[in-house]
Amino acid sequence: MGLIIPVKEFAERRRKLMASMAADSIAIVAAAPEKERNRGTLHPYRQDSDFQYLTGFGEPDAVLVLIPGREHGESVLFCRERNPEKELWDGYLEGPEGAIERYGLDDAFPIADIDEILPGMIEGRSRIYYPLGKDPQFDTQVMDWVKVIRSKVRTGAHPPGEFVALEHLLHDLRLYKSANEIKVMAKAGAISAEAHCRAMTRARPGAREFHLEAELLHTFMSHGARQTAYPSIVGSGANACILHYTANSDELRDGDLVLIDAGCELECYASDITRTFPVNGVFSEAQKALYEVVLAAQYAAIDAVRPGNHWNHPHEAALTVLTQGLLDLGLLRGTLTDALASEAYRPFYMHRTGHWLGLDVHDVGDYKVGGAWRELEPGMVLTVEPGLYVAPDNTDVDERWRGIGIRIEDDVVVTRDGCRVLTDGVPKTVAAIEALMAG
Ligand code: GLY
Ligand code: MN
Ligand code: MN
Repeated sequence: MGLIIPVKEFAERRRKLMASMAADSIAIVAAAPEKERNRGTLHPYRQDSDFQYLTGFGEPDAVLVLIPGREHGESVLFCRERNPEKELWDGYLEGPEGAIERYGLDDAFPIADIDEILPGMIEGRSRIYYPLGKDPQFDTQVMDWVKVIRSKVRTGAHPPGEFVALEHLLHDLRLYKSANEIKVMAKAGAISAEAHCRAMTRARPGAREFHLEAELLHTFMSHGARQTAYPSIVGSGANACILHYTANSDELRDGDLVLIDAGCELECYASDITRTFPVNGVFSEAQKALYEVVLAAQYAAIDAVRPGNHWNHPHEAALTVLTQGLLDLGLLRGTLTDALASEAYRPFYMHRTGHWLGLDVHDVGDYKVGGAWRELEPGMVLTVEPGLYVAPDNTDVDERWRGIGIRIEDDVVVTRDGCRVLTDGVPKTVAAIEALMAG
């Protein structure tokens, strides 16, 4: 299956990062370690997002080193050597040759030789960029390489004097998505939308939440998206009010809603969709009333996603509509101004309206710059996900509202004149959901 992000784009990212680094510096980024699940079996491997962004190289036990101005190549990869015997058990390895030929690295060495080679590359560079504190074991390794150089100062060696967190530079690059990245994220969004449609059409009273989870996975995997971007949430009835519910084991009951928050990962890019729909295909009056409030809040928030607006504008738009809706339906009393100022909506809406989305589901990038909310700019991708959750034991409200949890979440990319929704392949109006489920 062809990949959407071409090899030359990874080279371009490395070039951009190096252009923002100090001239006599070096950057070091490690692949994610493998993690044991239990005796003798590993968790499915997921590459570190920073490493993935800069290499597209999917193996563990690898280290990328960027050395601006190095004569024999600025992008250097250390990785596992090819080994037919090992490959027979664990699958193919690229080897240093493959890293150069197929991933466009300038130079590559066996990872087994890194202790011998890397100190020599660091020597003479005055600043090291690396993700400080992310992996304590790797911190120790970096310090050990530096110590090797320090031990040789009397022979004229020049150890680096400065350690700088790589994240500031790298994560700012990651925040602005390229046309290809948006293409991948749109594809991931389309697959996830199809999965949500499939789950909607297969919901039945008496089935269990994990049956719908299985339908989601079926669609993800059928499209080659082997991993989810995060554990799928399938919460029916009052389970929808537990924000991070993942037990997914209860029976779907006639008359309840079910909230599904699930998205696949494609080429390591996340999608993140939430839909809430009736188990039996038809909203009750109370469910519909609350649902329309959340939907109106989501439309208002999406409308606020445009260049010139800042990060908090969509959240503020959602809060206003949600709070007015709670007042109109009698779940809150008083005026809109007072209810917003006192955060009276909090028992019903306790999370924010979105987050950056990219290689990580809660993607990198600063939300504030110099103390002020960040302005939205073309290429930024975010989720818009307002909700309302009425706790089953909330005796302050009429009984008919209790135990209803609703969230509607889409992925949107900021464009030159507004935004584009990447996940509109799954319905969200009451009429469209009921029509799909009836059909
Ligand atoms: N599913 C994770 C989130 O919506 O933030
Ligand atoms: Mn989300
Ligand atoms: Mn979500």
